[in-house]
Amino acid sequence: MRIRKAVFPVAGLGTRFLPATKASPKEMLPVVDKPLIQYAVQEAISAGADELIFITGRSKNSIMDHFDKAYELEAELEAKGKTKLLELVQDVLPRGVNCIFIRQSEALGLGHAVLCAQPAVGDEDFSVILADDLIDGRLRPCLAQMQRVYQEFGTSVIAAQRVPHEQTGSYGIVEVEPVGPRLGEIRSIVEKPKPEDAPSDLAVVGRYILTPRIFKLLQATQRGAGGEIQLTDAISAMIQEQTVLAYEFEGTRYDCGSKLGYLKANVEYALKHEEFADEFRAYLTRRVGEWSHVAQTQQAALHQ
Ligand code: G1P
Repeated sequence: MRIRKAVFPVAGLGTRFLPATKASPKEMLPVVDKPLIQYAVQEAISAGADELIFITGRSKNSIMDHFDKAYELEAELEAKGKTKLLELVQDVLPRGVNCIFIRQSEALGLGHAVLCAQPAVGDEDFSVILADDLIDGRLRPCLAQMQRVYQEFGTSVIAAQRVPHEQTGSYGIVEVEPVGPRLGEIRSIVEKPKPEDAPSDLAVVGRYILTPRIFKLLQATQRGAGGEIQLTDAISAMIQEQTVLAYEFEGTRYDCGSKLGYLKANVEYALKHEEFADEFRAYLTRRVGEWSHVAQTQQAALHQ
């Protein structure tokens, strides 16, 4: 039971990251040296996917280019004997993995984007990955962790994470009945509730394994929060018919749709980068030393 098809909704406008996202997609923002969408794609492939379905919109052509073969660049690198760089370029899309691009002509929300994938997904269970939720899984990638749950229970699985209660208005929030460690069956799900209305502080993050039943339910879903067709609302209908599990993954999530989350991701991934982790750590340590020196001097001046 392997999930072969992964859907990447990439048509969003990225307004939280303007002006960087005025003409280029937020999914192409690099964390250290790879665009966010490449991390998402690698996560899907490492969990067994070999068909990648991108739901794109206007100004998103660079995503298509990124996963296309770059003949001229490859020929140039080969001619100059730059084999390491050539490998980096060729590894963007491993052999045997196919890409499908579907245009979402209107920005009607995440639910609508997922519905656009129906012709390519057909009647199979599939995954959805939101690339701006960058997840550093502790022992294995988040989707691979979810895949294990899926293999055991054979039902839809949604990634979840506890968030500060005052932040519930930024997420889909679930109420669950515990089933096992880190695992609960969803009893209710609501999109972006105010803290006073939130059923819990367990938030949905951007990884879903879904059964194709979701398509029928999405077709019947009316516009919800923010005037958009919400995936959350279709999942709310699905829990009336099928078991849907929420899984609290192991690892750290960076909200790379926000400037602060993106900066944190860059620092953390740079601190792990094989080429310059040591140098970068030394730089940060020196900078932190300077800041605390300044802070101490200011404190001392205040007490004089
Ligand atoms: C979407 C979903 C929301 C989920 C979030 C995770 O919201 O609608 O339920 O909690 O992704 O990142 P968005 O952040 O796209 O507004």
